[in-house]
Amino acid sequence: MSKVRYVILVSLMVVLSACGTVLHGSAGRATEIVERGSLRDLAVARGFYIGAAVAFAPLSANEEYRDTLKREFNMVVPENAMKMGPIHPQPTTYSFGAADAIVKFAEANGMKVRGHNLVWHEQMPEWIKGGKFTRDELLNILHDHIKTVVEHYKGRILAWDVVNEAIGDSGALRNDVWLSVIGPDYIDNAFRWAHEADPKAKLFYNDYGGEGMNGKSNAIYTLVKGMKERGVPIDGVGLQMHISLNNPPSADAVQANIERIGALGLQVHITEMDVKIQDGAGTLDEKLAAQAQLYYDMASVCLKTDPCKAFLTWGFTDQYTWITSPPGRPDAPLLFDKTYAFKPAYGALGDALAER
Ligand code: G3I
Repeated sequence: MSKVRYVILVSLMVVLSACGTVLHGSAGRATEIVERGSLRDLAVARGFYIGAAVAFAPLSANEEYRDTLKREFNMVVPENAMKMGPIHPQPTTYSFGAADAIVKFAEANGMKVRGHNLVWHEQMPEWIKGGKFTRDELLNILHDHIKTVVEHYKGRILAWDVVNEAIGDSGALRNDVWLSVIGPDYIDNAFRWAHEADPKAKLFYNDYGGEGMNGKSNAIYTLVKGMKERGVPIDGVGLQMHISLNNPPSADAVQANIERIGALGLQVHITEMDVKIQDGAGTLDEKLAAQAQLYYDMASVCLKTDPCKAFLTWGFTDQYTWITSPPGRPDAPLLFDKTYAFKPAYGALGDALAER
């Protein structure tokens, strides 16, 4: 968003606020947002990371996207550009262009970068999906991949999602190519190789569905506890937080989960929050208010629970989101609408950041 457009938008919010039409359901909120500054200003003031996933296409083509991103966030994570499929498309070919552009954008604007991700069962290159490898061959491939990518960005990535979504919904390790060909030690090896390649980067295990206290989070806890006991260089757990209005985790359960992870000596980042509204009840305004409350609740829990050091959303404008909707049931999971106007969720996240 250009500065002129931002000023116009903010002025409009002040007028609406004065008329009683307000963000996040309470009078004066828009005025407060103007006075208190952007999400980034609020996060910096308390030494916290507020971030968003970035897609290469709009970053290259859309000025409003770039302007909003650098105004509101002090951390980014490439949504797809660092995944194995895009970045390692052929056995001996690495394609760093899109990821390099995102990292350079972040550095030019004083933002930190999370790296996402080094090992996952999705978005793998065709040559791995279609290949038949022995355990030793696949171990060598994985080692080469991690060493090459992590060394390429050495010193420039605050935290890597080393292994992503290794646990299935049953709580057992997912029977993907990594587990079935290498065995469960692919996880420990991945972290060791990432640490060798960039000893200063914080190394995370990242997953969805284990934000509160449940079978999945118990499985994640057991996995990372075992890693700590084996001396594997792991620094944190990423709680993705892809949630919907229907069945969100309770703030108390998320807090208990963050605390038990912290008791292992690990950090937590909320890595991919978005809130689906298509299955919620009520009018659109009611759904957006309920969505805002969830952003507020989850950000507040993170901010008040010491091991939680960063809060990232998976995108920031409803113009670009991975959430698809069936016809007639549109969705709007993020902080800004498709025209980059503030949504109630934006005000709510700012409220959480502004509170001490
Ligand atoms: O870039 C190609 C393009 O060249 C091709 O023509 C087109 C045809 O389908 O596909 C494009 O790639 C797509 C890519 O997004 C970029 O738009 C892939 O098909 C598509 O699968 C991919 O989806 C991504 C998904 O991960 C992959 O499984 C989503 O954008 C991304 O938001 C999503 O992110 C994941 C996190 O990494 C892990 N946690 C869950 C989260 C949401 O699923």
